Amino acid sequence: MDDPKWQAANAAMAEVRSGMRLGLGTGSTARHFVDLVGQAVAGGLDVICVPTSEVTAAQALSLGIPLTDLDATPELDLTVDGADEIGPGLALIKGAGGALLREKIVAAASQRMIVIADASKRVEMLGRFPLSIEVNTFGLGATNALIARVMADFGAEGALKRRFKPDGSPFVTDGGHAIMDAFFGRIPRPEALAQALVDIPGVVEHGLFIGLCKRAYVAGPEGVDVLDG
Ligand code: A5P
Repeated sequence: MDDPKWQAANAAMAEVRSGMRLGLGTGSTARHFVDLVGQAVAGGLDVICVPTSEVTAAQALSLGIPLTDLDATPELDLTVDGADEIGPGLALIKGAGGALLREKIVAAASQRMIVIADASKRVEMLGRFPLSIEVNTFGLGATNALIARVMADFGAEGALKRRFKPDGSPFVTDGGHAIMDAFFGRIPRPEALAQALVDIPGVVEHGLFIGLCKRAYVAGPEGVDVLDG
């Protein structure tokens, strides 16, 4: 297939072995990976998987992929997921699909997390893509004021906006929270920003994934690049 997202997903299949406990990502690139796992399971691959969203769970179930959860299986061998941006050191922005909380929990429970992406996701500095921030809806105004203060401290170039669905209703995550999109433009100090955001009580999680991703398969016109962190 010509689609670079499929090519990246297909390259990551080389890391999948029978007997593995797998985390399944969310998004259009991860969707290809789940399809490929489904095909392999139909061909005899023996894996057990934890999905990072209800959407991925439904896809996996439709393909006959055996599922578990992190209560029954608290440690995973490998998680394969997409990303919105891949920066230096394989620091990531994730969350455009709104699944960042479960994605981060699953990634942190995995011995190894790898990212699959097309080449447009690779950046020299994170921040051009809006940073998803999952927030509790209680006290949303107060939480947003604190996030806005952090954005000002970190030199954000754009605004903070609540995410809405195409029908105009607020986007609600699988965990029942709201998503705020923070337009930074540039994030020169991702670790410091991550700490400042988690220090805000109403922030449930944010889309900066730092120190979690060990390898990225990035597909471009010349083929698939393998980046190791
Ligand atoms: C889901 O919440 C996201 O983290 C996705 O993994 C990320 O947005 C990449 O999605 P695509 O593969 O659709 O670009």
